[in-house]
Amino acid sequence: MSSSTLFVLLSAMASTVLASPTRLSMAPASYQHEHTVGAAYFMTNEPTGNYLVSSTIASDGKLALYEAIHTGGVGAHGLPAPPGMDPLFSQGSIGVSSAKRFVANVNSGSNTVSVFGLDSFNPARLVPIGKPVSSGGEFPTSLAINKAGTRVCAVNAGKVNGVSCYEFDNFFGLKPIKNSIRSLGLNQTTPATGPPNTPSQIIFSQNEKQLIVSVKAGYLAVWDVNSDGSLSKTFKTVSGGVLPFSLNHIPGKNALLASDPGVGYDIFDLDAPKTRAAGVSTPIPNQGANCWSVYSKESKNFYIIDVGKSVLTEVTVNSSLNSSIVKQYNVAPDGPLDSDVATVGKKDFIYSLSANVTGLAVYAVNGVGKASVYQRLDVAGPAKAAKLPINHTNIQGLATFIAI
Ligand SMILES: *[C@@H]1O[C@H](CO)[C@@H](O)[C@H](O)[C@H]1NC(C)=O
Ligand SMILES: *[C@@H]1O[C@H](CO)[C@@H](O)[C@H](O)[C@H]1NC(C)=O
Ligand SMILES: *[C@@H]1O[C@H](CO)[C@@H](O)[C@H](O)[C@H]1NC(C)=O
Ligand SMILES: *[C@@H]1O[C@H](CO)[C@@H](O)[C@H](O)[C@H]1NC(C)=O
Ligand SMILES: *[C@@H]1O[C@H](CO)[C@@H](O)[C@H](O)[C@H]1NC(C)=O
Repeated sequence: MSSSTLFVLLSAMASTVLASPTRLSMAPASYQHEHTVGAAYFMTNEPTGNYLVSSTIASDGKLALYEAIHTGGVGAHGLPAPPGMDPLFSQGSIGVSSAKRFVANVNSGSNTVSVFGLDSFNPARLVPIGKPVSSGGEFPTSLAINKAGTRVCAVNAGKVNGVSCYEFDNFFGLKPIKNSIRSLGLNQTTPATGPPNTPSQIIFSQNEKQLIVSVKAGYLAVWDVNSDGSLSKTFKTVSGGVLPFSLNHIPGKNALLASDPGVGYDIFDLDAPKTRAAGVSTPIPNQGANCWSVYSKESKNFYIIDVGKSVLTEVTVNSSLNSSIVKQYNVAPDGPLDSDVATVGKKDFIYSLSANVTGLAVYAVNGVGKASVYQRLDVAGPAKAAKLPINHTNIQGLATFIAI
């Protein structure tokens, strides 16, 4: 072998090593790979380096930590300082596509979005696809993915705020869609100053012909999505609520349930005639900060999540969009943030980021009005052992994948 060939080979190896992401194992010694049916992901969102932390979901619905992988970006915390929990003032900072088997996340301190494929044998093992791409603005906080997994959109909450969309490619990752960078026109800073006056979550409407962002200033911003993925130049405003936060589709209706830390929760009827308000707010008694929400197909109810009081509030919504509180559950000291429901076997579980205790929790749905704490998992200890920088004020996002 000539020295120049050797040099090329060695530099290729070196660049592979440098380009390869840092992985930190967090799996316990007793880790049983065979029972894995899915995975859950959250991110550290640290300003020194953002890591996605994956856990396996076993056939009984329980979590086991697996590993942390560097996202290729850094996290950030919204203002003002000193920071509390919920650094991005958002739901949906991590998204999963079951259709295309990928995970995407925002890097709020680098103004980028990263995307990872799932290992075919172990969905807790993430494989980077392409390089992180520009979020099209500053301080990205939430992502929307279409059902087919072909499009991803991000919302930016910083000084340069608004939305931007991408096409997903299995090999190249995210490719910006022309005419999809659109402004929200908020008077903001980088990092964003909030929670009020910041965007909270971005989602597609059920028919995917609209892109919707909740803004904690009493409205939703709604863009039309053209067939090529580009967006209408301006957005339509749908007023309602005080600080509309997380967004969930109400099955069978062109309507959304939003948690609202200014009151409790809001229901937005997107088909409401102009003669009547689209948004109707309902107070949640004794609320602290109801910022997240999930829907369970098993109970057909919503669970609204209060980090300030460590309470889940189960809400039922009928086909006339009238709603009522079914039950409240005290989950102290978890301090739950972002959560996601996954169906394992025939049972629904709520996977939740327990920010107040730097951990994860699994709540079993158990039908209507019967949710219970199923598992609590410490993350702080294993993170320390793995030398993974983590802080309960910076962690954010929770998304799950179940193999079918
Ligand atoms: C934007 O917000 C800053 C800080 O609150 C304020 O000083 C400034 O006047 C605002 N600008 C506009 C155009 O509203
Ligand atoms: C929904 O609930 C409201 C208030 O309880 C009730 O008046 C209405 O009849 C219900 N609608 C349906 C379709 O059940
Ligand atoms: C039921 O919902 C309608 C709008 O769909 C609203 O006008 C009415 O006030 C609601 N009733 C109750 C009891 O919430
Ligand atoms: C947060 O954790 C502390 C203990 O570290 C506990 O005293 C407090 O009640 C918890 N807060 C909530 C909202 O659960
Ligand atoms: C987490 O961050 C806060 C705010 O920056 C800081 O006061 C605290 O010491 C940090 N905690 C740990 C365990 O590093």
